[in-house]
Amino acid sequence: MITFVWAEDENGLIGSKGNLPWHLPADMQFFKKVTLTGDVVMGRKTLESIPNPPLKNRKNIVLTSKHDLDFKEGVICHSKKEIMEEVKHSKKPLHVIGGVSLFKLFIDDVDMLYRTVIHDSFEGETYMPEIDYSEFELIEEEEGTVDVKNKYPHTFQIFKRK
Ligand SMILES: NC(=O)c1ccc[n+]([C@@H]2O[C@H](COP(=O)([O-])OP(=O)(O)OC[C@H]3O[C@@H](n4cnc5c(N)ncnc54)[C@H](OP(=O)(O)O)[C@@H]3O)[C@@H](O)[C@H]2O)c1
Repeated sequence: MITFVWAEDENGLIGSKGNLPWHLPADMQFFKKVTLTGDVVMGRKTLESIPNPPLKNRKNIVLTSKHDLDFKEGVICHSKKEIMEEVKHSKKPLHVIGGVSLFKLFIDDVDMLYRTVIHDSFEGETYMPEIDYSEFELIEEEEGTVDVKNKYPHTFQIFKRK
């Protein structure tokens, strides 16, 4: 099974200057809970946005065209074919965690969407590629709690391909 796991603001923004545009620990917790169930695959720029890679207790797969990327803690792949080869014997889900190029690459294969919507508007330049939600059914939705550490109203959603 292939999933997408991401957070976007009300305009579909996901990134700003190589980082997340917001600080929302509750979403980091949600992300961790979901992704610990499987392997994660990400683009090289998303890897660089992670403070202390790898993401622990998960196989970290990185897609890059570079042949000198130093990432011994994970698996480096140079094509979608190599990624699929890497996980072909795995019974766990493959969680695609971005960025844009990775979401685009797996858009026709994804079975489940774990989307966090942050009900605010931020500055940035990286936007989630378009998803045809008519192909998916919303199966779970939960409003996040706003508190001192989590200032922005947010909603956790899970969609399943129809
Ligand atoms: N809000 C969220 O949930 C979320 C999730 C993920 C990322 N982000 C944000 O998004 C930004 C980073 O994402 P991004 O979209 O700019 O970049 P990205 O997709 O993470 O990485 C792009 C890189 O991946 C490699 N790549 C992509 N397709 C490839 C292919 N077919 N073959 C070989 N290599 C390939 C290339 O690496 P090389 O240049 O090394 O060849 C490319 O430069 C950051 O701001 C990050 O914080 C947000």
